[in-house]
Amino acid sequence: MSGHLVVVNFKTYETAHGVSAEELALIMSNIETEARLIAVVSAFDLSSVVSIAPDLEVWTQHLDPIQFGSNTGWLHPETAVERGAKGTLINHAEHKISIEKIAMLLDQVPEDFIVCACAADIEEARALTAVGPTYVAVEPPELIGGDISVTTADPNIITGTADAVREISDKVGILCGAGIKNGNDVAMAIKLGTSGVLLASGVTKSDNPKLALENLISQI
Ligand code: G3P
Repeated sequence: MSGHLVVVNFKTYETAHGVSAEELALIMSNIETEARLIAVVSAFDLSSVVSIAPDLEVWTQHLDPIQFGSNTGWLHPETAVERGAKGTLINHAEHKISIEKIAMLLDQVPEDFIVCACAADIEEARALTAVGPTYVAVEPPELIGGDISVTTADPNIITGTADAVREISDKVGILCGAGIKNGNDVAMAIKLGTSGVLLASGVTKSDNPKLALENLISQI
């Protein structure tokens, strides 16, 4: 088993919300691969995706470090765990929070719950590594949703992040994302020192998501 991660962030794409989220999760779940395919879904879709694709690893897109009680509208970690989330993104470029809040979340979640903290650059990756998430995913914001993969546009940010993370910790995993579209991009990401990729539009905006996923995993 390669164990390399291909993390697909459903964001709020029309093709990956509600019933479409269930359909995309089923496609992911039916792909046979040695890679670790992960669906990162809206909090609204978590329960239904987990129940329709019970073998698929599912994460949430964000959680708030709040407790049981009077916290209207926040995303409560224990509820996500009870509803089948195995992990979460945090501090995505589209949903930034303070490092203190990230540290609080890490204290709150169960030990085996995966927290993937997103970084815009090497400096932020270093700061995030210090609080001990499971993964740091480096994603230059200007490349997110674009046609040029970070592996082509800015390979140095990936090797620089890998070096920075390794200087601090041998436990924190490294991912990269932004513009990842195909198997070459994924292979390059791994070659540059990551455990895999975080992506969205390469799958959610594809006319044929199954084919897009098969291409993405084709070299791992
Ligand atoms: O969370 C992944 C994301 O920010 C990258 O998006 O569309 O460039 O693959 P995309």
